Amino acid sequence: MRLVRPSNEWKEEHRQYVKEWGPSRMIPSSFNLTGHDTYEEYLNALHVRESGQGKWVPSSNYFLINENDRIVAMVDIRHELTEYLCNVGGHIGYSVRPSERRKGYATRILAEALLKCKDLKISRVLVTCDEDNIGSAKTILNNAGIEDKSFLDTDGTIKRRFWIVNE
Ligand SMILES: CC(C)(COP(=O)(O)OP(=O)(O)OC[C@H]1O[C@@H](n2cnc3c(N)ncnc32)[C@H](O)[C@@H]1OP(=O)(O)O)[C@@H](O)C(=O)NCCC(=O)NCCS
Repeated sequence: MRLVRPSNEWKEEHRQYVKEWGPSRMIPSSFNLTGHDTYEEYLNALHVRESGQGKWVPSSNYFLINENDRIVAMVDIRHELTEYLCNVGGHIGYSVRPSERRKGYATRILAEALLKCKDLKISRVLVTCDEDNIGSAKTILNNAGIEDKSFLDTDGTIKRRFWIVNE
Protein backbone atom coordinates (compact mmCIF):
# COMPACT_ATOMS: atom_id res chain seq x y z
CA MET A 1 0.00 0.00 0.00
CA ARG A 2 1.26 3.47 -0.79
CA LEU A 3 0.13 7.08 -0.96
CA VAL A 4 0.48 8.82 -4.32
CA ARG A 5 -0.38 12.32 -5.49
CA PRO A 6 -3.09 12.75 -8.12
CA SER A 7 -1.45 12.88 -11.55
CA ASN A 8 -2.23 11.92 -15.12
CA GLU A 9 -1.13 8.38 -14.36
CA TRP A 10 -4.21 7.91 -12.16
CA LYS A 11 -6.74 9.47 -14.52
CA GLU A 12 -8.63 6.27 -15.38
CA GLU A 13 -8.50 4.86 -11.84
CA HIS A 14 -9.77 8.18 -10.45
CA ARG A 15 -12.62 8.16 -12.99
CA GLN A 16 -13.54 4.60 -11.92
CA TYR A 17 -13.57 5.59 -8.24
CA VAL A 18 -15.87 8.54 -8.95
CA LYS A 19 -18.15 6.30 -11.04
CA GLU A 20 -18.38 3.78 -8.23
CA TRP A 21 -19.04 6.61 -5.75
CA GLY A 22 -22.23 7.54 -7.61
CA PRO A 23 -24.26 10.76 -7.45
CA SER A 24 -23.82 11.69 -3.78
CA ARG A 25 -21.50 14.55 -2.79
CA MET A 26 -17.86 13.54 -3.27
CA ILE A 27 -15.82 13.22 -0.08
CA PRO A 28 -13.25 14.75 0.07
CA SER A 29 -14.56 17.45 -2.30
CA SER A 30 -11.04 18.03 -3.67
CA PHE A 31 -11.43 14.78 -5.66
CA ASN A 32 -14.61 15.91 -7.40
CA LEU A 33 -14.21 15.77 -11.17
CA THR A 34 -17.45 17.53 -12.09
CA GLY A 35 -17.09 21.02 -13.50
CA HIS A 36 -13.82 20.14 -15.26
CA ASP A 37 -13.83 19.40 -18.99
CA THR A 38 -10.59 17.41 -18.89
CA TYR A 39 -8.48 15.63 -16.28
CA GLU A 40 -5.67 18.09 -16.96
CA GLU A 41 -8.05 20.91 -16.06
CA TYR A 42 -9.00 19.11 -12.85
CA LEU A 43 -5.31 18.66 -11.93
CA ASN A 44 -4.62 22.36 -12.56
CA ALA A 45 -7.57 23.36 -10.36
CA LEU A 46 -6.36 20.97 -7.64
CA HIS A 47 -2.87 22.53 -7.74
CA VAL A 48 -4.38 26.02 -7.35
CA ARG A 49 -6.45 24.77 -4.41
CA GLU A 50 -3.47 22.99 -2.82
CA SER A 51 -1.32 26.11 -3.06
CA GLY A 52 -3.81 27.94 -0.82
CA GLN A 53 -5.14 30.48 -3.27
CA GLY A 54 -8.54 32.15 -2.96
CA LYS A 55 -10.72 30.70 -0.22
CA TRP A 56 -8.50 27.64 0.25
CA VAL A 57 -5.84 26.97 2.88
CA PRO A 58 -2.74 25.08 1.66
CA SER A 59 -3.45 21.36 1.38
CA SER A 60 -2.09 18.02 0.10
CA ASN A 61 -4.13 15.30 -1.54
CA TYR A 62 -3.28 11.63 -1.90
CA PHE A 63 -4.70 8.36 -3.19
CA LEU A 64 -4.10 5.18 -1.20
CA ILE A 65 -3.04 2.58 -3.80
CA ASN A 66 -3.12 -1.17 -3.25
CA GLU A 67 -0.83 -3.86 -4.68
CA ASN A 68 -3.03 -4.08 -7.81
CA ASP A 69 -2.54 -0.38 -8.53
CA ARG A 70 -6.13 0.31 -7.57
CA ILE A 71 -7.22 3.44 -5.70
CA VAL A 72 -8.83 2.18 -2.48
CA ALA A 73 -9.10 5.47 -0.57
CA MET A 74 -8.48 9.20 -0.83
CA VAL A 75 -7.34 11.83 1.64
CA ASP A 76 -7.17 15.63 1.75
CA ILE A 77 -4.83 17.13 4.35
CA ARG A 78 -5.54 20.79 5.18
CA HIS A 79 -2.36 22.37 6.56
CA GLU A 80 -4.14 25.10 8.55
CA LEU A 81 -7.48 25.55 10.27
CA THR A 82 -9.98 28.29 9.47
CA GLU A 83 -13.01 28.85 11.71
CA TYR A 84 -15.03 26.57 9.40
CA LEU A 85 -12.37 23.83 9.43
CA CYS A 86 -12.03 24.14 13.19
CA ASN A 87 -15.76 23.57 13.66
CA VAL A 88 -16.69 21.32 10.76
CA GLY A 89 -14.00 20.04 8.39
CA GLY A 90 -10.88 19.45 10.47
CA HIS A 91 -7.35 18.98 9.12
CA ILE A 92 -8.04 15.69 7.36
CA GLY A 93 -10.89 14.43 5.16
CA TYR A 94 -10.97 10.91 3.71
CA SER A 95 -13.11 8.37 1.94
CA VAL A 96 -12.86 4.71 1.03
CA ARG A 97 -14.07 3.23 -2.25
CA PRO A 98 -17.53 1.70 -1.62
CA SER A 99 -16.42 -1.83 -2.67
CA GLU A 100 -13.35 -1.64 -0.38
CA ARG A 101 -15.01 -0.63 2.88
CA ARG A 102 -14.78 -2.54 6.17
CA LYS A 103 -11.25 -3.76 5.34
CA GLY A 104 -9.31 -1.31 7.51
CA TYR A 105 -8.42 1.14 4.72
CA ALA A 106 -9.86 4.23 6.44
CA THR A 107 -7.87 3.41 9.57
CA ARG A 108 -4.78 2.94 7.37
CA ILE A 109 -5.15 6.12 5.29
CA LEU A 110 -5.72 8.23 8.42
CA ALA A 111 -2.54 6.70 9.95
CA GLU A 112 -0.61 7.51 6.74
CA ALA A 113 -2.04 11.05 6.69
CA LEU A 114 -0.88 11.55 10.29
CA LEU A 115 2.67 10.75 9.16
CA LYS A 116 2.33 13.42 6.46
CA CYS A 117 1.07 15.83 9.15
CA LYS A 118 4.18 15.05 11.18
CA ASP A 119 6.33 16.08 8.18
CA LEU A 120 4.25 19.28 8.00
CA LYS A 121 4.86 19.88 11.76
CA ILE A 122 1.16 19.71 12.56
CA SER A 123 1.41 18.37 16.09
CA ARG A 124 -2.29 18.52 17.07
CA VAL A 125 -4.48 17.20 14.30
CA LEU A 126 -8.22 17.84 14.26
CA VAL A 127 -10.43 15.18 12.65
CA THR A 128 -14.21 15.47 12.57
CA CYS A 129 -17.18 13.35 11.56
CA ASP A 130 -20.95 13.51 11.48
CA GLU A 131 -22.57 12.25 14.66
CA ASP A 132 -24.14 9.31 12.80
CA ASN A 133 -20.93 8.26 11.00
CA ILE A 134 -19.96 5.34 13.22
CA GLY A 135 -17.33 4.02 10.79
CA SER A 136 -15.52 7.36 10.68
CA ALA A 137 -15.70 7.85 14.47
CA LYS A 138 -14.16 4.38 14.96
CA THR A 139 -11.48 5.21 12.38
CA ILE A 140 -10.54 8.31 14.40
CA LEU A 141 -10.61 6.42 17.71
CA ASN A 142 -8.42 3.70 16.15
CA ASN A 143 -5.88 6.49 15.58
CA ALA A 144 -6.01 7.71 19.19
CA GLY A 145 -8.49 10.56 18.69
CA ILE A 146 -9.47 12.41 21.85
CA GLU A 147 -12.96 13.84 21.69
CA ASP A 148 -13.57 17.57 22.10
CA LYS A 149 -16.83 19.53 22.09
CA SER A 150 -19.22 18.79 19.21
CA PHE A 151 -20.42 21.51 16.83
CA LEU A 152 -23.95 22.09 15.54
CA ASP A 153 -23.59 22.87 11.82
CA THR A 154 -25.88 25.30 9.98
CA ASP A 155 -27.69 22.39 8.27
CA GLY A 156 -28.55 20.87 11.66
CA THR A 157 -25.95 18.08 11.57
CA ILE A 158 -23.82 17.56 14.65
CA LYS A 159 -20.10 17.31 13.99
CA ARG A 160 -18.04 15.24 16.42
CA ARG A 161 -14.56 16.72 16.82
CA PHE A 162 -11.43 14.79 17.84
CA TRP A 163 -7.82 15.82 18.39
CA ILE A 164 -4.93 13.50 17.69
CA VAL A 165 -1.64 14.35 19.37
CA ASN A 166 0.96 13.78 16.69
CA GLU A 167 4.39 14.21 18.25
C1 LIG B 1 -16.44 6.10 6.94
C2 LIG B 1 -15.47 5.35 6.04
C3 LIG B 1 -14.28 6.26 5.71
C4 LIG B 1 -14.98 4.08 6.78
O1 LIG B 1 -14.06 3.40 5.93
P1 LIG B 1 -13.65 1.86 6.17
O2 LIG B 1 -12.46 1.57 5.33
O3 LIG B 1 -14.84 1.01 6.02
O4 LIG B 1 -13.20 1.89 7.71
P2 LIG B 1 -12.32 0.78 8.45
O5 LIG B 1 -12.44 -0.51 7.68
O6 LIG B 1 -10.98 1.32 8.72
O7 LIG B 1 -13.16 0.61 9.78
C5 LIG B 1 -12.90 1.32 10.96
C6 LIG B 1 -13.85 0.80 12.03
O8 LIG B 1 -15.17 1.27 11.75
C7 LIG B 1 -16.09 0.18 11.60
N1 LIG B 1 -17.00 0.56 10.56
C8 LIG B 1 -16.71 0.92 9.30
N2 LIG B 1 -17.84 1.24 8.64
C9 LIG B 1 -18.85 1.07 9.53
C10 LIG B 1 -20.26 1.23 9.45
N3 LIG B 1 -20.86 1.63 8.31
N4 LIG B 1 -20.99 0.98 10.56
C11 LIG B 1 -20.41 0.57 11.70
N5 LIG B 1 -19.08 0.41 11.85
C12 LIG B 1 -18.33 0.64 10.76
C13 LIG B 1 -15.22 -0.99 11.23
O9 LIG B 1 -15.84 -2.21 11.56
C14 LIG B 1 -13.99 -0.72 12.07
O10 LIG B 1 -14.27 -1.06 13.41
P3 LIG B 1 -13.15 -1.71 14.37
O11 LIG B 1 -11.99 -0.77 14.37
O12 LIG B 1 -13.85 -1.85 15.66
O13 LIG B 1 -12.82 -3.01 13.71
C15 LIG B 1 -16.17 4.90 4.71
O14 LIG B 1 -17.38 4.26 5.02
C16 LIG B 1 -16.46 6.05 3.76
O15 LIG B 1 -15.66 6.38 2.89
N6 LIG B 1 -17.63 6.68 3.92
C17 LIG B 1 -18.02 7.81 3.06
C18 LIG B 1 -17.11 9.02 3.26
C19 LIG B 1 -16.98 9.41 4.71
O16 LIG B 1 -17.91 9.32 5.50
N7 LIG B 1 -15.78 9.88 5.06
C20 LIG B 1 -15.47 10.34 6.39
C21 LIG B 1 -15.83 11.76 6.51
S1 LIG B 1 -15.64 12.25 8.20
